[in-house]
Amino acid sequence: MRSSTGRWVSGDGFFDRKAELEILESRVRGRNHVLLTGQRRMGKTSVLRELGRRLAYDGWIFLFVDVEGAASPEDAIADIAQAVHPYRPIASRFAEGIRRWLSDRIEEVSASQFRLKVRAGLDPGSWRRYGERLLRDCASQEEPVLLVIDEVPIFLKRMLERDESAARVDEFLSWLRATTQALGENSPVLILSGSIGLEPLVRRLGIPDRINHLDPFRLGPWNRETSVACFERLAESHRLPVDGGVAGAVYDSLGVGVPQHVQSFFARLREHATMQGRDRVTVEDVAEVYRNGLLGPSGQSDLVHYETRLREAFDDEGYSLAMEIVAEAAIEGAFTLGAERSLAALYHELVEDVSVRIADALEVLAHDGYLEAGEDGYRFQSRLLKDWWTARFRDHHVALERRLEASAAVGNTK
Ligand SMILES: Nc1ncnc2c1ncn2[C@@H]1O[C@H](COP(=O)(O)OP(=O)(O)OP(=O)(O)O)[C@@H](O)[C@H]1O
Ligand SMILES: [Mg+2]
Repeated sequence: MRSSTGRWVSGDGFFDRKAELEILESRVRGRNHVLLTGQRRMGKTSVLRELGRRLAYDGWIFLFVDVEGAASPEDAIADIAQAVHPYRPIASRFAEGIRRWLSDRIEEVSASQFRLKVRAGLDPGSWRRYGERLLRDCASQEEPVLLVIDEVPIFLKRMLERDESAARVDEFLSWLRATTQALGENSPVLILSGSIGLEPLVRRLGIPDRINHLDPFRLGPWNRETSVACFERLAESHRLPVDGGVAGAVYDSLGVGVPQHVQSFFARLREHATMQGRDRVTVEDVAEVYRNGLLGPSGQSDLVHYETRLREAFDDEGYSLAMEIVAEAAIEGAFTLGAERSLAALYHELVEDVSVRIADALEVLAHDGYLEAGEDGYRFQSRLLKDWWTARFRDHHVALERRLEASAAVGNTK
């Protein structure tokens, strides 16, 4: 097994997820559309690519579309067209309708050139019609088609921000639902996925029924046994001897088996052994690498990813509230009801409907796996994430209740 800490993995870089693949495959074969959610770095894209690879091996057409860069339905349709490009019968049929000359030149243009040409032929008045034609062209293919659209919530959020209205989000989701439903049994099977909760987003916009044709599936972390097995497989494949107890200590340090964190820990331990000129990894190395590698300056670059995703999930006000919540949960150990009341009091002059906004932020943070609701408030599930945020805010976060008391005291002396 290859070690990887970057993008999605598949084939011999892919570990386990047997049950998840089995469930997803059976839903797809049963022609059920799916909404795949899961915390950052949990391996959503990898599981979808692996699922597609297996189905393609069995004769399916696998279309993988990443709409992270799309800003309009026209862009998203053009992205789907790009994924269709290698399947000549579908691409030609579609091109025939949109730009006849393109149909004869499919062989001459690359997939990204094809995308550009298609994009140039789409506008706000025509994307529905052409998009429908594209999906119909997929449906008329003899082979069944799996259409994965990844990073959907980022795309929808972008439209929401640009337009300052939910109209286009609604139009796109309604169109997708109506079109796939009209194609019935022959429709490409859809899987929508992304790392920011789509459900909280559509609920907030008052259009939850636009995704009710999708069967939700949540990708969770690996348990201890699987995390340990993955670590040991990596060590074996890279011929790195590790003492007994190392893999277990890795899992215990992380607190939760996010696949990318397991991979990252392995890569850092391996580098550490090389730097020290040693040919084995000991249990003591685990604590040292956790402290200096994962939590140190180089590990902070992974944190940036988590922070960026939060910025994408919220507007400026929502982002400030979310950062306050995350900082409080990291440093105080939990975001309690008292902290929630204090936050509302501190921000009520600045943010409209502050209690609702806090509730929204908590929903997203819990949905996306940053925090977990417990008896005494919201806490981090992952020790690594908690320690990261603690390192980030340690020097400038004051507990919310104390901050409120201090501001009340200032108010009284005025
Ligand atoms: N099944 C797996 N086997 C081995 N490693 C995995 C697996 N799934 C995920 N990983 C690790 O996690 C990393 C991220 O995977 P992936 O990009 O699929 O996650 P994601 O949930 O789509 O992330 P994002 O939230 O950034 O979209 C991979 O580079 C790899 O290190
Ligand atoms: Mg992904």
